[in-house]
Amino acid sequence: DGRALAVTPPMGWNDWAHYQCGVTEQIVTANADALVSSGLAAKGYDTVTVDDCWMTKARDTSGALVADPVKFPHGMAWLGSYLHARGLKFGIYEDAGSSTCGGYPGSGRPQGGGADHFAKDAASYAAWGVDYLKLDGCNVYTAAGQTQEQAYRQAYDAQAAALRASGRDIVFSESAPAYFQSGEWGNPTWFDVLSWTGSDGQLWREGWDVATYDPAQPNASRWSSVLSNYGYDRWIGRYASPGNWNDPDFLIAGAGGLTDDESRSQVALWSMLAAPMILSSDVAALTPAAASALGDRDLIAVDQDALGRQAGVVSANGSTDVLARPLAGGDRAVAVLNRTSAARSITTALADVGLPGCTVTARDLWSGSTSSVSSALTATVPAHGTAIWRLTPGAGCAAAVPTGQ
Ligand code: GLA
Repeated sequence: DGRALAVTPPMGWNDWAHYQCGVTEQIVTANADALVSSGLAAKGYDTVTVDDCWMTKARDTSGALVADPVKFPHGMAWLGSYLHARGLKFGIYEDAGSSTCGGYPGSGRPQGGGADHFAKDAASYAAWGVDYLKLDGCNVYTAAGQTQEQAYRQAYDAQAAALRASGRDIVFSESAPAYFQSGEWGNPTWFDVLSWTGSDGQLWREGWDVATYDPAQPNASRWSSVLSNYGYDRWIGRYASPGNWNDPDFLIAGAGGLTDDESRSQVALWSMLAAPMILSSDVAALTPAAASALGDRDLIAVDQDALGRQAGVVSANGSTDVLARPLAGGDRAVAVLNRTSAARSITTALADVGLPGCTVTARDLWSGSTSSVSSALTATVPAHGTAIWRLTPGAGCAAAVPTGQ
């Protein structure tokens, strides 16, 4: 069962949101080194993925993918060895269609028919020491008599089978659901796709791209894109379980375009969502606030909790979202997002987060301080900020009930 490949949400780094097609071997190795020297790798951020634009525009005469010799002069096997020597894992990007979103050769069959390259490419990944594949979904063509969903399923099933046959354990990140997403409430086909991605892979992008970094406008706000990705992910917790994770796209905390409180919010919300924690930024240039949030052991523990239950939405009224997530051992994580642009004192009844009649020990995961709480949690939450607690139920908690989905 492939679920064993990612019993907790994958963590790591990907170049895309910060560098896009400017990715090079030097950028990847520098960021890998920074993950190690910053201590983030030791805290779990260990999978380094090279996104689109790493290859040449044509396959070689044997039909194999070829790394761009200018961007990646030492080739992909060398890069895999470089990462493995530092205790890191090697991730790579390809596409289930005839070409990638950036216009490079895809693994899928050409438009109008012809052979796909799923097995050929899986053999290359295994030979290069690849540990993680992100398979995008641009340019997936529908054959006669096939629905669009069937075309995607055929491609992702084929890649999953090829990875299993490759002789190497390779985590499989699927982008199929994203191509069926149409706003926060999705559409029926989006849910159909989400119902099969878990048998092919361990995680899947279910919506649009988080805003990329633009060096010409480094401070252009990216908060609305973080909120939007959080916004649809919060409703699909039922698809998450150990080994199967919804991916609301990259963490961009600390990389420009977010205030410190917005950066902290993204990390807190992603941890509540049991989201893959895949940072896409210049690791050496993280703001101190973001570096501290990303490396926060309490938040990482929520994200990586062994129960594997994604938070449910307790309430959402336009100004405030309350999320609750049961944790292994009986604890419960609670987060309160302040969507408004002013700091507000927000009170949340324990009864509303599934702990009626309880006294709990509440650990504020930002301050680290603990207090005994018996009726309601109260916090002053900054503009666009998120309060987050870990609650340990005490007296009177026999009646603790599930929250959310
Ligand atoms: C799509 C994906 C992004 C990135 C680009 C690369 O937009 O969603 O994450 O991989 O393609 O072209």
